[in-house]
Amino acid sequence: MTTERTHADRRALVTGAGQGVGRAIACELARRGAHVVVNDLSHERAEQVAAEIAEDGGRATAAAFDVTDWAAVRRAAETSGPVGILVNNAGNAGRTSGMTRDDLTPFVETAPADWEGFLRVNLYGVMHAVRAFLPGMIDASWGRVVTLISDAGRVGEPTLAAYSAAKAGAAGFSRAVAREVGRHGVTVNCVSLGTIGPEDAPADDPERARALGRYVVRRTGRPSEAAALVAFLTGPQAGWVTGQTYPLNGGYAFSH
Ligand SMILES: NC(=O)c1ccc[n+]([C@@H]2O[C@H](COP(=O)([O-])OP(=O)(O)OC[C@H]3O[C@@H](n4cnc5c(N)ncnc54)[C@H](O)[C@@H]3O)[C@@H](O)[C@H]2O)c1
Repeated sequence: MTTERTHADRRALVTGAGQGVGRAIACELARRGAHVVVNDLSHERAEQVAAEIAEDGGRATAAAFDVTDWAAVRRAAETSGPVGILVNNAGNAGRTSGMTRDDLTPFVETAPADWEGFLRVNLYGVMHAVRAFLPGMIDASWGRVVTLISDAGRVGEPTLAAYSAAKAGAAGFSRAVAREVGRHGVTVNCVSLGTIGPEDAPADDPERARALGRYVVRRTGRPSEAAALVAFLTGPQAGWVTGQTYPLNGGYAFSH
């Protein structure tokens, strides 16, 4: 099946695109014709995904920088030039580097220093990238910003209060910016993910199905499913969609 080139002539930055959901988004936007700036903290991973896109016949540039570092993000905006599409995907999925599941504790047992890692990447990282790349979109009178948040931020997740706060903060921030820039042809939306597994996770694993009991569709989500929704929201037919948060969660929680 050939992919429609809905993103031809667009430049897109996908943060944290060295693996997982971000990688799938970068590859999908490239298949649709965008020139993708592949960001990651890891230089090696960013290069690898950019090379993969090029091998597939797409256009990509690797840009390693840390979205939590405002000076680095500003430098990246200067060197990579304007982008019409910004996908804020970099996040720590509930863990700061070096943390394990055992480190996740009830909020009442945490201290402000424990919250930093979650807020820095999931909230400040988003604000940095939007602040740095939004002026180019306003100048061009066209832009698409999509931020990957989590259902932890929509419905709450025990032991992940700071992560939930950061993701909910990113959604609130997106709504405010959406109101500021709609008149410039720039839309700002969020995609709220439930548990995303590997692309080929078995759908019929009974142990996994039990663990996923709160999901109406009892399997983990696929990176390609997130990429498809982001492709729509950043594409030409989504110009009247802004300020929204779209759940992609197998029915884990409904919105109304
Ligand atoms: N995977 C899930 O189940 C899930 C669920 C809900 C929400 N999310 C959100 O979706 C997004 C992607 O999740 P994932 O599971 O693919 O993540 P992942 O941990 O597999 O990959 C994240 C990538 O981002 C990069 N990164 C991390 N911090 C960065 C920084 N400061 N600057 C630049 N790059 C950075 C990492 O190096 C990594 O390559 C995240 O925002 C996450 O919070 C994921």
